[in-house]
Amino acid sequence: MGKAIAIDGPSASGKSSVSKGVAVELGFIYVDSGALYRGVTWQAIRTGVDTTDSAAVLDSMHHAEWDFFVQEGAAIFSIDGDVPVQELREKGVREAVAGVAAISEVRKFVVESLQSLENFGSLVMEGRDIGTVVFPDSPYKFYLDADPEERAMRRYRELVAAGEDEKAHEVMDSLKKRDQIDSTRKADPLVVAPGAQKIDSTSMTLDEVVQAVVDAVKEGL
Ligand code: CDP
Ligand code: CDP
Repeated sequence: MGKAIAIDGPSASGKSSVSKGVAVELGFIYVDSGALYRGVTWQAIRTGVDTTDSAAVLDSMHHAEWDFFVQEGAAIFSIDGDVPVQELREKGVREAVAGVAAISEVRKFVVESLQSLENFGSLVMEGRDIGTVVFPDSPYKFYLDADPEERAMRRYRELVAAGEDEKAHEVMDSLKKRDQIDSTRKADPLVVAPGAQKIDSTSMTLDEVVQAVVDAVKEGL
């Protein structure tokens, strides 16, 4: 059985960037678990479903055909034959995803899909509940964090670089709102997994964080 490195933490703590770096260094497959929650949300929106209607969201999720595969070192998926990438970052998805991810049957579907990816090989998976729910038995668990102001600035810079017309205080508000929903929801809230190594990256560079994770994994923790 392959290894699964779990990387959890709040928005813009560096999970994606760090996980991708670690996956390249170790030759593991990178998995963005948030993309799946975003995929469920996007599928609901494009089929005309009100994302606050749980039954309708579940219906649209179950009626879609989901396929998983590995491309360029990352696990990705298609929904009814389409591979959404940029679409998953759209504002409508961003605003609705935390609500959709709070639906327990959505979580069950996503968690089982994520677990099945172990068949592809060793994984570096980022998310909110990877160390607590998806791979609780993994010896390689990390919890990334950084001050909220620093996280909001990171996300703001990314959005501006991507040409989005965003205001810094709006990014801060939306990030705080999502943190709040993610850490207080009943189903699998964002918490530090037992045995996880905490890394506060507020004043660390990306490379330093990647190296800290790689070193810890190589040492067998
Ligand atoms: O996946 P998550 O939302 O946790 O964060 P991300 O998408 O990786 O975004 C974090 C942003 O902060 C990226 O633009 C990184 O380059 C930057 N960053 C970082 O991830 N870690 C640091 N130690 C410093 C900056
Ligand atoms: O990139 P960012 O950290 O802002 O978000 P993401 O990782 O793409 O996740 C989007 C949303 O999906 C989060 O705000 C959570 O509500 C949800 N999510 C989750 O509940 N559990 C996960 N393992 C990953 C994401």
